[in-house]
Amino acid sequence: MLNKIGLIGGGYIGGVLAQEIAMRRLSREVGLADPAPFVNPNDPPERQDVAKKQSVAIGKALDIAEGLPTIRSDVRLVGSKDYSAIAGSELIINTAGVPRKARPDGTFPSREELLATNLRVTNAVAEGIRQNCPDAIIISIANPLDAIVYTLNKRLSPPKNKLMGMAGQLDSGRYCYFVADAANVSVENVNALVLGGHGDTMVPVRSSCMVAGIPVSKFLDDDTLKAIETRTRKAGGEVVGLLGFGSAFVSPAWAALEMAEAIILDKRKILPVCAMLEGEYGVEGMFVGVPAIIGKNGVEQVIELDLTDEEKEAFKHSAGAVRKTCDEVDEMLTKL
Ligand code: APR
Repeated sequence: MLNKIGLIGGGYIGGVLAQEIAMRRLSREVGLADPAPFVNPNDPPERQDVAKKQSVAIGKALDIAEGLPTIRSDVRLVGSKDYSAIAGSELIINTAGVPRKARPDGTFPSREELLATNLRVTNAVAEGIRQNCPDAIIISIANPLDAIVYTLNKRLSPPKNKLMGMAGQLDSGRYCYFVADAANVSVENVNALVLGGHGDTMVPVRSSCMVAGIPVSKFLDDDTLKAIETRTRKAGGEVVGLLGFGSAFVSPAWAALEMAEAIILDKRKILPVCAMLEGEYGVEGMFVGVPAIIGKNGVEQVIELDLTDEEKEAFKHSAGAVRKTCDEVDEMLTKL
């Protein structure tokens, strides 16, 4: 058990994280930091006064705290509109960001505008971490994943084991679920890795996909597997399209908690994570999704797989896409 876990962002994923940490008793204290609801300077003063008094973070912390006697959990929950609630955290999970949604005039922000907004948010998040828990291990979930992890690293320069992104665990979970469903076997039997960047170029590694230790090709034909791999790459969008109000929030929270538990319990579990590569997989100085041993120090060791030539090529292509994103971030950060 840790003393304290800090959650930055108390939206859909942050809420599931807070409640699961309380249920699983992963830390003595949980701090939830989120400035919402934001005060709109164009609103009438009375409405601004209401927004100033409201707090998603304090409200969610209180809601969960009031349920603790029922679930017999003694976790202490604190919320704040600033970053004070995360003070002293040993582990941070970051979900802070602004989703792509229509402006009041009905138009949508461009991809670049949205990226700029989320980089501003990430600058504030980094400052919040620096001031309140500079030694914490950080798991970042916020999208665009690769850009946000890269920015946190630029702003905080933590030891490379202490910063990682959560994407591969979610993408691999999706791949495993689709395989289990198609093969009509338990999800417990399926093991697979999805590596590379968290976007259209992600690489479902078929050579790593095993059903009870048996290669997946024994169970599913090539066409079915191709369709599953395509669906995996687009799985985030599929959920967005169905929900109609936002993106997946339970499976990402559980995926991040799989990483958090490996750290908290020093499991030394091999999980796909977005980790800093220094030569592994031929990538230098960049965060990309790879399998790594996760334990009490965070990323303990990156594991290099023997990929097939086709998988190697796909990984290279994906790492190239991440490099492009990082270059774009570098340029944008100079203007913020
Ligand atoms: N500091 C802290 N929290 C912030 C900040 C900030 N500077 N700016 C915005 N937030 C908060 C918002 O107020 C919101 O409550 O981040 C929260 C994000 O929550 P949601 O919009 O509900 O999004 P969620 O579904 O939780 O996903 C969070 O994870 O999977 C990714 O694409 C997803 O980037 C998104 C993130």
